[in-house]
Amino acid sequence: MKKIGVLTSGGDAPGMNACIRAIVRCGVSRGLEVVGIRRGYCGVLEEDFVKLGRRSVANVIHRGGTFLETARCEEMKTEEGITKAVEILQREGMEGLITIGGDGTFRGAVALAEAADVKTIGIPGTIDNDVYGTDQAIGFDTAINTALDAIDKIRDTAGSLQRPFFIEVMGKDRGFIALDVGIAGGAEEILIPETKTNIEQLCLDMKHSFKKGKKSSIVIVAEGDEAGGAFSIAQQVWERLRLEYRICVLGHIQRGGSPTARDRILASKLGAAAVDALVNGKTGYMVGELKGEIAFTPLKETWEKRKELDSNLLQLIKVLAG
Ligand code: F6P
Repeated sequence: MKKIGVLTSGGDAPGMNACIRAIVRCGVSRGLEVVGIRRGYCGVLEEDFVKLGRRSVANVIHRGGTFLETARCEEMKTEEGITKAVEILQREGMEGLITIGGDGTFRGAVALAEAADVKTIGIPGTIDNDVYGTDQAIGFDTAINTALDAIDKIRDTAGSLQRPFFIEVMGKDRGFIALDVGIAGGAEEILIPETKTNIEQLCLDMKHSFKKGKKSSIVIVAEGDEAGGAFSIAQQVWERLRLEYRICVLGHIQRGGSPTARDRILASKLGAAAVDALVNGKTGYMVGELKGEIAFTPLKETWEKRKELDSNLLQLIKVLAG
């Protein structure tokens, strides 16, 4: 193998730049030519390529976002799009492709590998952390620390003015961010898509906690909770309890910012492992980390299998909130 491509696709995640840096520097030291593809699969179809050398990735390790930019490419969901992408990659002589992102990104990689002999390795990069086959995806640690910093600040004002706060965090399908920041932020309640949200029970719990002498409460709501987002839930609680409340939707601040040390280290390890895998002829796998060890999972399993939440944490929140 002489030439490989790297792209970031879907939602950006802090640590993606550190990962691209590791891929470029490990690739070059293995004698490979490394090509950056801008704006994910859209960049393949538009032939938006940039040759990357050691110096091209100087001073990016600490930067959030992705300097290659990213996109969600609708054309890659069509047969014509796949055929065109294969033709372009073959013409460019790109024998291997490393894709950084979540399940949408990996679906594209599998489609390319099935259509032609493009060797692909995926790397999990999503703040949602909802990818099977890795304990943490790149970006998750930074996102929960960013959210936690905001929640700590909100707690100061919630306590001072004795108010309940409904804080909405990202996670359109899964509650990994909500669960971790709920535990770390000492939340009274966590509402996530994985469990049924019972508004009557939530009101009872809130009433009890105020009766027990609590003067404020922090309710963490995952954006994908089935009872609606923070606005809808807060309104339903208001209709029953008539408690003055405030809402804070943390939104995209959770996706930006300088990656934590943990995300930079994970990104560097996975980037290096992806290059090694391609050089050793591996294809069709995601490289992740399970219990501190590098682990390979067939790309299809990353979306076909469901990553479970830590049920112990779900139990713990009930005890600790008392
Ligand atoms: O997948 C990451 C994520 O941040 C989700 O948590 C969120 O629902 C979504 O991306 C938001 O996407 P966009 O930036 O397109 O609004």
